[in-house]
Amino acid sequence: MKIIKSVKQMSLISKKLRGSRKTIGFILTMGYLHEGHISLIRKARKENNIVVVSIYVNPAQFGPKEDFKKYPRNIKMDTTLCEKCGVDIIFAPSDKDMYPQGYVTYINVEKLSEGLCGTKRPGHFKGVTTVVSKLFNIVKPSAAYFGQKDAQQALIINKMAQDLNMGIKIKIMPTVREPGGLAMSSRNAYLSVDEKKDALVLYKALQKAKSMIESREYRAKNIVGEMRRLIKTKKSIRIDYIEIVSANDLKPVDKIKRKVLIALAVFTGKTRLIDNMIVRV
Ligand code: PAJ
Repeated sequence: MKIIKSVKQMSLISKKLRGSRKTIGFILTMGYLHEGHISLIRKARKENNIVVVSIYVNPAQFGPKEDFKKYPRNIKMDTTLCEKCGVDIIFAPSDKDMYPQGYVTYINVEKLSEGLCGTKRPGHFKGVTTVVSKLFNIVKPSAAYFGQKDAQQALIINKMAQDLNMGIKIKIMPTVREPGGLAMSSRNAYLSVDEKKDALVLYKALQKAKSMIESREYRAKNIVGEMRRLIKTKKSIRIDYIEIVSANDLKPVDKIKRKVLIALAVFTGKTRLIDNMIVRV
């Protein structure tokens, strides 16, 4: 396994690989890898000649008051995990190489990036789509793998790849959860034992929503109300948003008629957690 830090070197290697008709499967991450990331790596390993994992905590997607500085990092642990999973190349660029002085170009996917987390974290998705397109240009993947855990992000990137004719297959893989149902996230490392216990209510609330829909409660307001009630029983949790939207275009839904995305964000103490579930009627 190679660890590449220079953008120039990575570009040269990927150009060569694509020239020799190798398929490149790409997993983009901010590191501090867990089973969620590993599931994407395993899928890519099965489907490609070469697997590249990027590890880059992208400053452009963090707001000024967010956790960029203290975001968990452990390149040693990440390297061991990648090696075990048969990764060929880790690409871990520096901020200087990614955003040199005078950098001014950004990518914005309209509409899809305006609701849900887009409203709560202004500029976040612009930072995500910008770094993702830069990494795509450097690594030149045939396919890139994303998690349903970040449902809005996955939809936005898929749309960007289509709209900009990137010619990259975007594959979206299921959310990996801990045994109690908590969605795996690098940010779970911030949680205290009690906060982690409280956070189990998120998956319970999503399951409750699903079972309400299955028993033919189609009024979004009633479902969201019940989810709020459940989550509010936990003292350490403050709700950022809970919404039911159309799974394809993320437009809010009043009456559930087809496939919906039930999405939520909360603060558990100071830690922002997101989770979601797709429910088909
Ligand atoms: P990060 O949070 O490190 O996640 C990297 C990839 O792993 C994303 O596609 C995310 O959806 C997926 N992932 C995270 N937790 C998961 C889980 N529990 N189950 C399945 N997949 C999971 O998302 C980012 O980084 C960044 O925004 C990035 C795309 C790398 C751009 O900077």
